[in-house]
Formats: sequence, C-alpha cells, structure tokens
Amino acid sequence: YRSIRVALLGAGSVGSQVARLLLEQGDELAGRIGARLELAGVAVRDVDAPRDADLPRELFTTDAESLILGADIVIELMGGIEPARTLVLQAIASGADVVTGNKALLATHGPELFAAAEQVGAQLSYEASVGGAIPIIRPLKDSLAGDRIDRILGIVNGTTNFILDRMDTTGASLEDALATATELGYAEADPTADIGGYDAAQKAAILSSLAFHTEVPIEAVHREGITSVTAAQVESARRAGYVVKLLAICERLADPDTGEEGVSARVYPAMVHRSHPLAAVHGANNAVFVEAAAAGPLMFYGAGAGGVPTASAVLGDLVAIARRHVLGGPGTAESTHAELPVFDIGRITTRY
Ligand code: HSE
Repeated sequence: YRSIRVALLGAGSVGSQVARLLLEQGDELAGRIGARLELAGVAVRDVDAPRDADLPRELFTTDAESLILGADIVIELMGGIEPARTLVLQAIASGADVVTGNKALLATHGPELFAAAEQVGAQLSYEASVGGAIPIIRPLKDSLAGDRIDRILGIVNGTTNFILDRMDTTGASLEDALATATELGYAEADPTADIGGYDAAQKAAILSSLAFHTEVPIEAVHREGITSVTAAQVESARRAGYVVKLLAICERLADPDTGEEGVSARVYPAMVHRSHPLAAVHGANNAVFVEAAAAGPLMFYGAGAGGVPTASAVLGDLVAIARRHVLGGPGTAESTHAELPVFDIGRITTRY
C-alpha cells in the first residue's frame, strides 16, 4: 500500500483515542482504504502530560507547524480558537485536507475556513463537532441534500441532558445533579460552556448553517442555559406529562411582519412531551430530530460525547478523505475488500 501521512493536533480525550485506534486498526483500515494511514506525529502543548491512551512517546512533538508541513491530512482536536484556527489555515495552505471536531472554531470562523478550503480544493470535514459519535453532519450535507429541512430539534449537550434527566428521574436539585455529573466525569471542571448553553449554541450554529444552506453566525443564536431550572419546575413539568430538555431549535420561519422566510436558531430549556422521541433520550446521550419535507421525521441518536465514541466520527471523516486520495474522486466508494467471511445461516430469532 502507498502511505498517507496523517498529522494529529491535540491528544486530549478524543485525540488520544484517535491516535490509539489509528495505531491499533492500521491494517484493517489500510485494507478498507487501499492505502496505509501513517500517523506522522501528535502535536501537543506538553509532551509529558498524562493521556487517556498509552501512546509511543516518540510520536509527540510540541512543534505543530513542522508536523503540518508534509502531512496529507491534518486532524485538529485541540479545541479553542487559537492556535487551532491559524494551524488549520496553515494546513489548508500547505495542501493538506483537514478533519476537525472543533465546534467553537467552526461556529465562530466556519465561513473563513470553508472559503480557504474551497479556494485550494481542500476537504474540511467535521462530523465530530456535533453529537459526538452520531452521524449527523454528513446525513445533513449529503443524504438529505435533495430534501428541504424545515426544523431540527437537537439534544446536543450530554452534560446538561444528564443533569436534567437526573433532576427528572430523582427529583435532585440542579446543584446536586451537576455534582454527580462532575463526579462521573461528564461535566468539565468548569462546566460553564455546558450549563450556560454555549456548547449547544455552537452546535446549533453549525447544524442550522448546514441544514438551511446559509451562514448562521454564533451571535445570531439565541442562548439560554439551564442554570435557572429548578427542581420544582422539573416536577411540575413531569406532572403535566412533559420533560424539560435543553433543546437546540433550528427552523425556517417567516418574518411575522414581512412574511419573508428566514432561519431561527435558539437554545433554551424547553418542555418536551413524554410522547416525543426526544423525551426518551436519557443520561449523557444526544439526539438530533430532523423534520424534512420529503423524508418526514428522522432521529439520529447515540453517544454525544466521550473520547472513544467521538473518535469514531473523526476516523470516519479520515477514512472518507483517504479514500478520495486513493480514488481521486468522491470518497463514497463501497469497500469490496473481503474483510470478513459471509455466513449463510438462515433465520435468527432475536428479540429487540
Ligand atoms: N461537553 C460536551 C457535552 C462534550 O457535554 O456534550 C461534547 O461536545
């Protein structure tokens, strides 16, 4: 196989799992792609910082700029705006394709990055930026490209869903539920981005830009967090047959005055009827409920956070881009490699 050089920027909870899976699954991925993904290095701030995965020390470097030069594909999982933005622009300028999971970067500088990529014909993929492991970016971009999306209702922050679910099921206060979320490692040491709704607002900006084929800047997303939700409110919602969920609501709206059609993206704690599929999203899971004109309602559900699940989305983008490198065309070719034997074993009776 020929080799495709991959540079990884960042080795936090997602980055370290991406590196581990790339090393462990190298042979299998090579067969699937028709080329070998060679992890050229991992750029980090501190080479000696503790990592979630055991990785060879010689992979690490603090020199991200040198690592990028000579890479075919750059994976950016540093988070934050700078230096991520500058490094992604450098990667694109040097001819690399880019995979990122950086929702803050996309929500604030998306148009700049997409324009830079388009100018040189580079790929910029970001499945991991919304909904962790859940495939939602490519379904919106590709599978639903021929449809008209009317509305998206998303539970896109696992930490707040865990907290609200716990308040609903145990009657806990917000403070107690947050303490549990922190203990279990869901909430960050500083959970402001989660409970303040900032993380969900960034994801709403990304989803609505994609779904409605327009630029929805983060400043245009109405945002309320869950900080003022009380146990009493959750309880009275429960009695009325509702559950309180932090929703990212992205929809087409007509201006009440002019009738002109536009897009609204907003994040706030909303009452969701128990009969709605989103009411059944428990714990730190995420779900994105899409209402499309022809397809009808669709729901994408799964693990919305966590290093290993989110690494799955990153690797999916990586494999799609690598296939393009091999085929020189769209990276959607089916794998015909005989990876696994196929058994003809007739009917299997299973209860689901
Ligand atoms: N803090 C985020 C969450 C992580 O709780 O969903 C995934 O973006």
